[in-house]
Amino acid sequence: MIRSVIVGCGSYLPKRVMTNAELAGMVDTSDEWIVARSGIRQRHIAADGETTGDLAEAAARDALDHAGLQPDDIDLIVLATATPDSTFPATATVVQSRLGIRHGAAFDIQAVCSGFVYALATADNFLKAGQFRRALVIGAETFSRILDWEDRTTCVLFGDGAGAIVLEAMEGEGTNADRGILTSHLHADGCHHDLLYVDGGPSGTQTVGHLRMSGKEVFRHAVVNLSAVINEALDATGLHADDIDWVIPHQANKRILDGTARKLKLDPSKVVVTVDRHGNTSAASVPLALTEAVRDGRIQRGQLLLLEAMGGGFTWGSALVRW
Ligand code: ACO
Repeated sequence: MIRSVIVGCGSYLPKRVMTNAELAGMVDTSDEWIVARSGIRQRHIAADGETTGDLAEAAARDALDHAGLQPDDIDLIVLATATPDSTFPATATVVQSRLGIRHGAAFDIQAVCSGFVYALATADNFLKAGQFRRALVIGAETFSRILDWEDRTTCVLFGDGAGAIVLEAMEGEGTNADRGILTSHLHADGCHHDLLYVDGGPSGTQTVGHLRMSGKEVFRHAVVNLSAVINEALDATGLHADDIDWVIPHQANKRILDGTARKLKLDPSKVVVTVDRHGNTSAASVPLALTEAVRDGRIQRGQLLLLEAMGGGFTWGSALVRW
């Protein structure tokens, strides 16, 4: 059977770092409060004029270099973002054009913080169906542009960044020993709209709007939904929590990572954590964390990775990947 194998990964973070101390000069907050409640110490913020497409292009080029491939080798681009450069066309087509690719397909996926897992599952299904051979799957965000910088309950939590992987269709045996995506699981429940949303949009208000969140409620749902979708992936493959070498979670909040690991009895030292330095970068956080752990040598060929995320909608999902 065809397996979608990750043959390269890359990332990009804007140069500007905003510390908690800097935020404390803007809203009524403190480094102590932010670290205690979220684990976040700093985040990267895009420069004026630096767009999601710019971040995505840089991450895509880094992933192609890591894979040893040329842009022309790619025939599908799936880009997850909730902060596209424009209402249309898709930011994926911006990246496609910048890379000089004139063939294949390119489109965006909107599942907020679950966007990368949704994009991964989508690209995997296209590759398994034989419709495309090599996909760039990108998560890229400039959440700094949709934050209300006067709302201390949200502006301290998010940051900007991008991550990307190259997926390639390869023959597998159809067993858990195969390299590539072994299983993926996606969910949504739109009735939770009001707990996490942006109060603007092209059709509703003709404005971009700002992020609004009931943090406590989101937190509660996150641990429950993430635990369930992780168990779903394990059940689907017959694998056990002990088989997982690395957990690459969406980086919303250190307390959500700890709570989920505790609930599933996962060894916390196997959880890749970047939220302290990146904040919550929405769809970018999973490929950013993955790239960090691959490049620093933690993730080794043959290891089993669990990817998971939950975001606005609500949407949530998981994937098990053999590196
Ligand atoms: N600095 C100082 N005090 C603050 C701040 C701040 N930045 N923000 C809120 N407070 C105050 C509140 O006003 C409140 O004060 P009060 O008791 O006088 O009313 C107090 O701190 C406690 O606020 P809570 O909201 O109860 O704090 P909580 O412990 O729930 O932590 C947080 C808040 C960090 C938002 C937490 O609920 C959380 O992480 N939720 C999940 C949010 C999340 O991860 N969202 C993203 C996931 S989905 C996605 O990625 C799109």
